[in-house]
Order: sequence, then structure tokens, then C-alpha cells
Amino acid sequence: MLITSNAQDFRASNLVFVPTMGALHEGHASLIQQARQLSDQVVVSIFVNPLQFENQSDLEKYPRTPEKDAEVAKNAGATILWMPDFKDVYPGEVMMVEPGPIGNILEGASRPAHFQGVLTVVKRLFDLVQPKSAIFGEKDFQQLFLIKEMVRKLQIPISIVAGKTIRDADGLAISSRNVRLSAHDRDNALVIFQALTAANEMESLSEIQETLIETLSSKPEFLLDYACVVDEKSFEFAGEESFSKRALVAGWVNGVRLIDNMPMKARVR
Ligand code: PAF
Repeated sequence: MLITSNAQDFRASNLVFVPTMGALHEGHASLIQQARQLSDQVVVSIFVNPLQFENQSDLEKYPRTPEKDAEVAKNAGATILWMPDFKDVYPGEVMMVEPGPIGNILEGASRPAHFQGVLTVVKRLFDLVQPKSAIFGEKDFQQLFLIKEMVRKLQIPISIVAGKTIRDADGLAISSRNVRLSAHDRDNALVIFQALTAANEMESLSEIQETLIETLSSKPEFLLDYACVVDEKSFEFAGEESFSKRALVAGWVNGVRLIDNMPMKARVR
């Protein structure tokens, strides 16, 4: 595996790209393995993007584990590990990419300017790597949606591939934040998966919504931010008639913010 900070070192026409902010875990490894099925040239980037953090202290606290990351990336099949500096990504005045109204709801409502920062860095990383495709996890479903929209609107010739959410055996979606959960916190955090799986058994939108709220409120130590159902194609709040519905949940357990989502079996009959 080539390790470099310079994107000029790896120009090729068949690159598949997995952008990350490091602290790599099984979820990232799965995206890299998926990339490797698509190409024998897989670029993994590690760049902790200051523009997508709401405050300086979150940015400073963000875990940086370059040696372990290199091992995870290599074992998962990465052929190039790209670790650019700030000035490589943002050499001059930054041209911000605006996410539009969907960037201000749900995750965007809790984290103002977050998606503006995400789209801006993803666009810059795409400019520098010029891959044929790029993979993003479905766990950050709103991010995935907004990146697909950016690519469509700016006519960027890169295909965006979705990577399935990887879960621990108990169902908790894997996230770098899970290490901050005690066993008791984890038990509370599992209510998210329980709510999503219970909702998935329901036949109508109203039953899905009721089941989400009822299940999530069974754990008073889970502090709900939002639980909603969107139409996957438009990211508008789903109506009973929406064909592909996806439930999204976010909240806090003992100060740790957790998000998850699941496609709902209930379709238009
Ligand atoms: O999902 C992430 O890790 C980040 O938001 C991304 C896409 C690498 C941009 O910094």
C-alpha cells in the first residue's frame, strides 16, 4: 500500500475512493472491501475536515490514530492511503458548496453548517483524486443523499456507491463514538436499533411513527433528537403513499450523539 500526502502520486482512470476522517473501524473496513470488489485501485483518504465541525474543541478531541488506520486500510484492501494536509485540500480561498434546504433539517438542524463543510470538502477531495466512483456509508444517510444531489447538480462524473451499515452482534450500528459508551449506556443506545426493527414490522406510516416513538420513549436515558420517516428518493418527509420509506433516528445517550436509520418494508400496496 502506498502512503502519501500528494494526490499527484496516484493518478489513474480506475480509482475507487473511500473518503474518511480516520479513526477507522469495521464500518470503514467494509467500505474499503466493497471498493476493492469494484477496482484493484482503492484510495482511502484521511483528512479531519475543520469545516464540518461546529466548534474547535470537537475538532481538537477528534481521535487521530494514523498507525492503526494504516493497518486497517491495508488489511481491508486499500492500495493507496492518502493523508493530505490542510493546505493541499484548501490552498486558497475556500469556495463553499451550499447543500440547500435539506442541509438545514435533521442532522443539519442540530449541527449548523455541518453539511456545507461536508460537501465543500468532498468536492475538493473529488477534484484532487478524480476517481471513477466513491463509496459512502448509509449510516450517514442524509450525508449520502446530499452528496448524490451535489454530484447530480454539479454534473460531477463520479458514481456514488452506498455502503451498508455495519452492526455489532447486538445490532448497534458501528461508530467511532461507541467507545465512549459504558455497558449501561450501550444498553440504552440499543433502543435505537430496537425501535427501527420494530417499526420495520409495521404496515403503515402511522404505525411506523407510533412504534418508533413508543419504543424510543421506553428508555428515559435515551434523549431523543428526532425520529422520522423520509422518502428515500426525495428526502422529503414520507407520506403514506411514499414508495421507499426510510426511518431515521438521532439522539444522545449520556452525552454521546448517536444516529441510525433503516429502510422500511412498508411500501405502497
Ligand atoms: O463521513 C465522513 O467521515 C466525513 O463526513 C467525510 C465524508 C469523510 C467528509 O469529511
